[in-house]
Amino acid sequence: MTAKILDGKALAEEIRGEVATGVAEMKQNHGVPPGLAAVLVGDDPASAIYVRNKRRACDEVGMVSDTIVLPADTTTEQVLKTVQQLNDDPRFHGILVQLPLPDQVDELAIIESINPDKDVDGLHPFNVGKLVQGRADFIPGTPFGIQQILMRNGHDPAGANVVVCGRSDIVGKPMALLLMQRAEGANATVTVCHTHTKNMAEITRQADILIAAIGRPNVITADMVKEGAVVIDVGINRVDDASRRRGYRLVGDVDFAAVSEKAAAITPVPGGVGPMTIAMLLVNTLTATRLTIHEKDS
Ligand code: GUN
Repeated sequence: MTAKILDGKALAEEIRGEVATGVAEMKQNHGVPPGLAAVLVGDDPASAIYVRNKRRACDEVGMVSDTIVLPADTTTEQVLKTVQQLNDDPRFHGILVQLPLPDQVDELAIIESINPDKDVDGLHPFNVGKLVQGRADFIPGTPFGIQQILMRNGHDPAGANVVVCGRSDIVGKPMALLLMQRAEGANATVTVCHTHTKNMAEITRQADILIAAIGRPNVITADMVKEGAVVIDVGINRVDDASRRRGYRLVGDVDFAAVSEKAAAITPVPGGVGPMTIAMLLVNTLTATRLTIHEKDS
């Protein structure tokens, strides 16, 4: 079997088009342009690229956007102050603090300081709790994007064995929570594997849908995948490649060449999950804006 490639880039473009329509309506009907503020602390090149892409995507759909860049030695108190200013700024309906933060910054304190109504990353404990209860306003961008990739390509997870490899707060945990809900686009039987899992290959071979969010290149090999499975690769890993001008190339957590001979469908890296994360962030920002309008109306 040669896998169908699940094109996240094209799907993200489609979703950004839908968001652009929603933004235009919001401006026309309510005079409110949705706004997203990003906070970037330090000079990690990968984070800077993410934030630049987010800003570009906001501009493209007609949203207001701003990026606050703080130096690498910024303290927790200084980041808290910046978040507070953004909480109070009515131009911004969504706030995103790019993670990871430098070691001296208390990441959980920062996430908790974001107004939950503006927490378009869905990482505030209040919003995580709502996700647990199946009534989330903001689903974190990567799991939300993966759910869209599955649904819009005809791979409804209902009743499927889904195996999630990875248990991060940003991807693995919310992914498992989302797909186990009693809801459309969910109703899966979910298993989560992590660094302490014994016989991971035995478990991944049971997966109808396998989601790799490990953060190490080529960990998922063909022998770990069931014939005909749908494979979602969340990894974005840099590996040295002297033949490239920049000296590296991006690969996923999945051995793409071998696994795509066995899977029914697979996401590429790049161009799979990555672009969807940003598209769903825009969806969440539009939702946050709509919720402020409905509050005013009620
Ligand atoms: N760093 C990598 N992915 C993400 C994300 O989705 N949100 C935030 N805030 N930081 C990230």
